Amino acid sequence: MNSIQILIVDYGSQYTLVIGRTLRELGVRSLILPPIKADDWLKKNTLKSVILSGSHWSVHSEGTPELPKSLDTTGQKYFVLGVCYGMQLLAHKLGGTVERPLAHREYGPATVTPDTGHPLFKGIKEKTEVWASHGDTVTKLPKSFTSIATSGGVAAMTDKNNRVLGIQFHPEVVDTKEGKKILQNFLDLSGCVKDWDPINLIHEIQKEVLDIMSKDKKNLILGVSGGVDSTTLAAVLAPVLNERLICVAIDTGGLRAGEVEELKANTTSALGKNASKNLVIIDAAKEFIKNIGTTIDGEEKRAKFREVYKQKFEEQIAKHQAGYIVQGTLATDIIESGKAGESAMIKTHHNVGLSWEVEDLHPFRNLFKYEVRELARVLKLPPAVYERNPFPGPGLFLRVVGTPVSKENIELVREADETVADILKKHNLNKEISQLIVALLGVNSVGVKGDERVYGHSLAVRAVQTVDFMTAKGYYFPEAVINEITSALTKHKDIVRVFFDMTPKPPATTEFE
Ligand code: XMP
Repeated sequence: MNSIQILIVDYGSQYTLVIGRTLRELGVRSLILPPIKADDWLKKNTLKSVILSGSHWSVHSEGTPELPKSLDTTGQKYFVLGVCYGMQLLAHKLGGTVERPLAHREYGPATVTPDTGHPLFKGIKEKTEVWASHGDTVTKLPKSFTSIATSGGVAAMTDKNNRVLGIQFHPEVVDTKEGKKILQNFLDLSGCVKDWDPINLIHEIQKEVLDIMSKDKKNLILGVSGGVDSTTLAAVLAPVLNERLICVAIDTGGLRAGEVEELKANTTSALGKNASKNLVIIDAAKEFIKNIGTTIDGEEKRAKFREVYKQKFEEQIAKHQAGYIVQGTLATDIIESGKAGESAMIKTHHNVGLSWEVEDLHPFRNLFKYEVRELARVLKLPPAVYERNPFPGPGLFLRVVGTPVSKENIELVREADETVADILKKHNLNKEISQLIVALLGVNSVGVKGDERVYGHSLAVRAVQTVDFMTAKGYYFPEAVINEITSALTKHKDIVRVFFDMTPKPPATTEFE
């Protein structure tokens, strides 16, 4: 079901996600991966085409990101399109020359003369306005490649089979007037068909789950958190499963302020008329804190969290005679947990790879967050659901870093998180960021309060902007907001210092552990 036809290799361009979004606007889903993960993924999957993104790198810099080792540059397995740096990298690796001639540099609008007889430029004007941003240029094409567009220099190239292509400008940005048409031409050329249709996807998922469950009359347990993934999954399944769907929410003790009420409201809106019968809320805060104990190791903490999480669900499976468990696990959770191909394990997501006695279903396993948000919109869930920032399953336990988790520490981050979230709401900044993280750091330091020495905790505040959480940009708060947050947080008697963390992902991850 819904397998990916097109892989975008991300070389760090700020427009990589825009390529993905534009393809989706054209009705085609894509997967975005950095070169090393792309290498693993390409070995395990069949697809129709690969797009190599732009980058701030030069092919001549030290440490420059490479082509995925397993990329088929002969074009036999799939079509390849290099965009900007992607084209330069292809040219450089296939025996061409990339240089920095002053006359060929383009930053901003440029006019390109394409070969309109080539399928990539079918229907494009003889002179077309594009947007480019490059110092390096391909000055000599690889053997058996030809130029199919010119501007200051070579603006596009192709191999003799029209299967390996490059464009020097950015077709994904709106300033490239006919960029969408060029990308559509590439999709047509490589045989990619429309596969992004939310209504169809909802029906496919319902059918997939119903087919699996047709062999008996057993119930299905869905773990709900109030977040967009599990709430949307509840809304997808409720109309076809009716009373066979049991939604289980666990109050782990690591939830944010007001979250139990929020999850009740969100799940109720997803379940509609069956809401009162299908939602069970369990309070297991004490058991989670006890089991996590004094560990400060992120992975160990996740492992201990998973133990209780699994046990609580097993109790519910037995109680409700369930034969199935279903979770809102996304493609990103699976990739980051090292379950896709052989990608490196970054962190164990609490809901991936658990083994259950009952059948384990992950119908959103190929979807990304922005796609699930779109499903939620189509299902007419309230904005509180589809606009909701994500929050990790292990919750605030992951936000007490470098010091053991205790009821008091969790209370402290919960309060701090609420304080910062309120300030962001007041300044209308919550819409600009994808996720807020407030963490208690196990670094005590000296401060002065009311002319007295205090020795207290430090908090870190981090907000990120991202579309799919595979990569993220650190968000820079306005100075006045930084001051307001710092002042509000240090009012707590035990907080003496507040750090702001703008590190992008990579190298950091969104969460601290
Ligand atoms: P990272 O920190 O890996 O997070 O960049 C990416 C996104 O996933 C969330 N996250 C989790 N969600 N269980 C979850 O349900 C987990 O164990 C987990 N770890 C991270 C994180 O908050 C971010 O939105």
